Amino acid sequence: MDVTAVIVAASRAVETGGERPLFEDVFAAEFVRAAGMSEAFPVSHAQIGLRENAENLRALARVTALRTRFLDDYFAEVPLTQVVILAAGLDTRAFRLPWPKGCTVFEIDHGSVLDFKQNVLDKADARARCDRRPVPVDLRTDWGGALVRAGFDPEQPTAWLAEGLLPFLPPTAEGRLLDRMHELSAFGSTVAVWAVAADIPGADATVRSTITDFGIDIDQVTNSEPRRDARAHLASLGWTVTESTVDELGERYGRPQRNHPATFFTARLA
Ligand SMILES: C[S@@+](CC[C@H](N)C(=O)[O-])C[C@H]1O[C@@H](n2cnc3c(N)ncnc32)[C@H](O)[C@@H]1O
Repeated sequence: MDVTAVIVAASRAVETGGERPLFEDVFAAEFVRAAGMSEAFPVSHAQIGLRENAENLRALARVTALRTRFLDDYFAEVPLTQVVILAAGLDTRAFRLPWPKGCTVFEIDHGSVLDFKQNVLDKADARARCDRRPVPVDLRTDWGGALVRAGFDPEQPTAWLAEGLLPFLPPTAEGRLLDRMHELSAFGSTVAVWAVAADIPGADATVRSTITDFGIDIDQVTNSEPRRDARAHLASLGWTVTESTVDELGERYGRPQRNHPATFFTARLA
């Protein structure tokens, strides 16, 4: 199982069990248990409280909560007929969000990740609230072909999501991914992107050291080789890019942050 996807699920489980959560992901803790990683990754504030690096773990959970809620709201604010979640990992939005009738949600990730996720969801008797279609394919290959074979319609506007993906891709694969996404996007399509590779070397010190505490070398699992800025790349293809900061999100959702360095943005092709 992809460990980075499990870390995100653990943080979502923490938020779900907390006071006045920004969202509820009832499957998140089960993913961590099913992956056999409950010892490694705390899934509640009580478990975090027993750790030496509790402050860092709380900081990681806080940012993941803001990111998740912001991207939930992104889907509430854009027109939706078809949605593509690139590197869906253990994202359960297909089961959590109130999708409009007839909306199709494609989830792309490695087959092993999607199979693991399906097993857990089947055991929980989970029911998607949309026409959910998992598409097992490596995003460094011809994923567009696999998406179209799964029923994706390039003539319809699409709401894309790339949450926690770009820092894992080599520069050429990222460039190709953005170009392919553009080719498959009808006018009116939108995309939300959380984190770019350039964030990694200067990643928030707490996030970096928390990942290290988990025994993972962030520089080994990510790729921060220099590349064209994703915002400039999309803008050059005609997308209108809107950026925001984590600190602004903190204010919007009543969870103050100070100088958090993660980059995220939405863009629209009009
Ligand atoms: C940090 S997780 C984020 C998962 C999900 N977007 C979320 O926020 O819950 C990164 C995900 O990217 C996926 N991934 C990384 N490289 C990939 C590739 N080349 N093709 C498909 N999936 C990839 C991993 O399998 C993992 O599920």
